Amino acid sequence: MIESLEGAVAVLTGAGSGIGRATAHSLARRGATAVVSDVDARRAETVAGEIEALGGRAEGMRCDVSLQDDVATFADTVLRRHRVVDILMSNVGVIAKGDPLEIPLEAWSSVIDVNLLGTVRVLRAFLPALVEQGRGHVVTTGSTAGLFPYAHDRLPYVATKAAVVALTESLALYLRPRGIGVTCFCPAGVMTNIVEQIRHYGPPTPIQPPQVPVISAEEAGELVVEGILENRLLVLTDPSVESMAQRHVMDREGFLTSQVQYLEGLA
Ligand SMILES: NC(=O)c1ccc[n+]([C@@H]2O[C@H](COP(=O)([O-])OP(=O)(O)OC[C@H]3O[C@@H](n4cnc5c(N)ncnc54)[C@H](O)[C@@H]3O)[C@@H](O)[C@H]2O)c1
Repeated sequence: MIESLEGAVAVLTGAGSGIGRATAHSLARRGATAVVSDVDARRAETVAGEIEALGGRAEGMRCDVSLQDDVATFADTVLRRHRVVDILMSNVGVIAKGDPLEIPLEAWSSVIDVNLLGTVRVLRAFLPALVEQGRGHVVTTGSTAGLFPYAHDRLPYVATKAAVVALTESLALYLRPRGIGVTCFCPAGVMTNIVEQIRHYGPPTPIQPPQVPVISAEEAGELVVEGILENRLLVLTDPSVESMAQRHVMDREGFLTSQVQYLEGLA
């Protein structure tokens, strides 16, 4: 279990914006060096610059998690420079939106490649070093979309997020006995730039109001860091999400019926 972040090395993907950026700031405020990566190098460098301007330690690097070579080069560079990685946050997620009958196979492939295989690439690149160290903490970013059904207009996204939750939990079976903490951050609504990444297919689907409170990216970053320090497997963004997740687990049929009624009420 990580007791102090002072002097820790934290590596984050998709950290040029939103939740990753806020988590990098939270970690750096507590004394960690934040290695901020993003497909957009300019964004990564901007976030690193913000952290340094506040007196923290950070580096900005480009890494596209959909490219195996990028991820391998990124991991090699970080491990050569720092020797250890105390915290690894695999955070990238993109959304394809549309009616289930409209989303083409290419959109499925691309979302799976970024959200699920991107997570796998990052874990495969860094885990051998963490296992050899025998310490550290891994965070994946899932979503409440992977915990219970709330929307049918982003099926590739929910499928990949459910997969990220499942792979994180099963990976914890392997990592915890080896001294490595594991957290899956499953936010509901967080105010970020995620809408920029949404690709739409077919006629626009109705906008759904959030069923649970939306939080700021800064609050999300703090929750991730608390989850790391408390070595919590699942970190959610609001107690109402916890109760929805519990209702879902206890009675899937009843939960689905109430969600169908809720969506029909919006139509
Ligand atoms: N914002 C929400 O309401 C919310 C809710 C649940 C889950 N999430 C998850 O949180 C994570 C972060 O999302 P966010 O809301 O902070 O979004 P964001 O768009 O603000 O930040 C995501 C960052 O990822 C980068 N990125 C996109 N594709 C990439 C790639 N192939 N390789 C590397 N970087 C890439 C983007 O450039 C961007 O800077 C995602 O996994 C998302 O699914 C967000």
